[in-house]
Formats: sequence, structure tokens, C-alpha cells
Amino acid sequence: MRHRIITIDGPAGAGKTTVSKLLAQDLGCVRVDTGALYRGVAYEIIQQNITWENDAALKRFLSTLDLRFGLEKDGLRLFSSGKDITPRIRTPQITMLASAASAKSAVRSALLELQRGIARQQDAVFEGRDMGTVVFPDATVKFYLFADLSVRARRRYDEIQDEKKEFSCVKEQIQKRDTDDTLRAQAPLKPAPDAIHIDASYLTPRQVVEKMHAYL
Ligand code: DC
Repeated sequence: MRHRIITIDGPAGAGKTTVSKLLAQDLGCVRVDTGALYRGVAYEIIQQNITWENDAALKRFLSTLDLRFGLEKDGLRLFSSGKDITPRIRTPQITMLASAASAKSAVRSALLELQRGIARQQDAVFEGRDMGTVVFPDATVKFYLFADLSVRARRRYDEIQDEKKEFSCVKEQIQKRDTDDTLRAQAPLKPAPDAIHIDASYLTPRQVVEKMHAYL
């Protein structure tokens, strides 16, 4: 049986995570944060000190990679070779390396089957950058969530207040990630032709989800 797959793509800071959590809760299905997989790759590259720009070394590394999601009481967890690495994948260093490594086609194809495998098992809300364009071209419904750069930077800034970063620096980093994610040759961030676009700049997460329900 084909499962109901809802995809949410969009740039960093548009609110995909909060919105996909709410939507998955409403629908009683799982949420899959595919960015976490790219972060898991970055985490292991650092741990194992891989020279990932070297294609042969990267391929060897990817063939041993064992990333899996687990659904625990407190939400989605990411395991690498059985170890829960969820609390370790949100550092600024991993954020930037995940974006850089995600431009490699070997990395993308290593994660493609894993993502499709999850979709074969159950209904799910998938959030990422290439869900509707590459991973699930025949998803049941596709959304493209975006918001003004300043609004996204402000949200990120409020989230990471303890890091004592200047607002302008947070904004620059988001802009750099937008550029890298949009301009890369492999599965660049872009809306699928049949995606429903939602501008989340001035909507609460709940308001975004209500808009989504209208299409489900
Ligand atoms: O959503 P995030 O910030 O956790 O994603 C981290 C990086 O992973 C992001 O800069 C781009 C990449 N990514 C991707 O290329 N494709 C996806 N489906 C999800 C994330």
C-alpha cells in the first residue's frame, strides 16, 4: 500500500521543524527531519576526521555509515551506529559542515534510499530541501515554506541567544546557507513545480498548519 507522504521544503529558519511537528501530531504520523541526517554525516566526518573533499575517502566513509531514526517519548532521535547523537548535531560547526557536505552527490545518494525506506513503512511528514523535487517526486502533497530573510534571522537569533552572536552575523550565516543550498548543483533548494507555496513571514506556526490542512 502506498503511504501518505507530505513534504515540506524551504530555506533555513522558515519554521519547517515547528510546523512539521504540529502537522505530524495533527495527522498522527511520524515527522522526519532530513536535515538531521546531513548533520549526522557532518558529525561523523568530524568524529572520524575524514578528508571528505576526497571522493574515495568520502565513499569509503559513507559505506560504513549507519544512521537511523528512533521515535522516543521526547521526540525524534538520531542514532549513529546505535549511539544517540541527537544532542550533538546542532552546533554551528556542524551546521556549516552539513551544508557543505550536502553538496556532494555521494552524500545525497547515500541518504536517498534511507529516506525512501522510511516512507515505505508508514505515513510521514518529511521536511528538508529536496523532498518534493528529488526524494519524493510523487508525494501526496508538497509544501514550500518560506519567509523573509530578516524574519528568519530574527527567529534564529532568538533561539540561540546564549551564543552571544550579533544579529548581523546570524543573518549573514543564514544568507550564506541560502546561497549554498540554492546554488549547489546537486538537488538544490527549490520548490517542486507542483508545490503549494506558503509565506510564513507573518504567520504563527499554527496559522501555517491551518493553511496546510486546507490542502489535505
Ligand atoms: O534543515 P537543517 O538546517 O537541519 O539542514 C542542515 C543542512 O542539510 C542544510 O544546510 C542543507 C542540508 N539539507 C539538504 O541538503 N537536504 C535536505 N533534504 C535537508 C537538509
